[in-house]
Amino acid sequence: MKAELLYEGKAKKVYCVHEDVNSLVLSYKHDATAFNGEKRDVFEGKGRYNNLISAAIFTYLSEQGVASHFKHVLNDTEQLVERTTIIPLEVVVRNIAAGSITRRLGIEEKTAFPSPLVEFYYKDDQLGDPLINDAHALLLTDVTSEEIEQIKQLSLLVNQKLQPFFAEVGLQLIDFKLEFGRNYSNAIVLSDEISPDTCRLWDIKTGAKMDKDVFREGLGDLVEVYEAILNRLEAVK
Ligand code: TMP
Ligand code: ASP
Repeated sequence: MKAELLYEGKAKKVYCVHEDVNSLVLSYKHDATAFNGEKRDVFEGKGRYNNLISAAIFTYLSEQGVASHFKHVLNDTEQLVERTTIIPLEVVVRNIAAGSITRRLGIEEKTAFPSPLVEFYYKDDQLGDPLINDAHALLLTDVTSEEIEQIKQLSLLVNQKLQPFFAEVGLQLIDFKLEFGRNYSNAIVLSDEISPDTCRLWDIKTGAKMDKDVFREGLGDLVEVYEAILNRLEAVK
């Protein structure tokens, strides 16, 4: 069913679909990169875990009334999604301080925010995905100020839904990144992936990091950690 390759990113390939202009195939690679591609490695099996974890998360969100581009899993490393044009914004929601905000603002890791923070980064590898404000988003993308509000509210809703989802399997949702696209009727749709590549997840009991920080910070075996997350999610299905 796959037709030509439309786009290849650091962690996925995107294909058109024969005779279905409104669908795309997302093909998850086994590659991991960090620090804007400066650190990279290949982890056999990683693509399967991200494909199946992202599918489980989008399925749950849809059951909770939060629509996304996700349609269904095709095989171990591929899923069918609604075709969207990605808006070049990375929307990060933070519950607990970790990662770039600790370095940028000198906030100690593990500091809880009184309410979740929503941040925009401009999706541009050459610029290193810089942090931007709403006015910059209006200037650099085709979103309107109403759509900026809509994107923020949707991102906070995803946070509200995902915190108990992960808590049920013993994981604390520290922060995560979302991307949105426009579908054929120009509506804004939650897109891309939600996986341990795009979330920070800490084990509630031990505090252990169970996400891509294992690779970023060289803490252990990334594939083992991703496998554990999928196993936990499948155990409560
Ligand atoms: P940060 O602390 O590095 O800004 O990351 C915040 C969250 O966004 C974290 O859960 C990881 C995720 N993220 C991505 O999914 N892609 C990226 O390129 C970056 C920098 C972060
Ligand atoms: N995804 C980015 C990269 O590949 C950054 C990150 O996730 O840390 O470099």
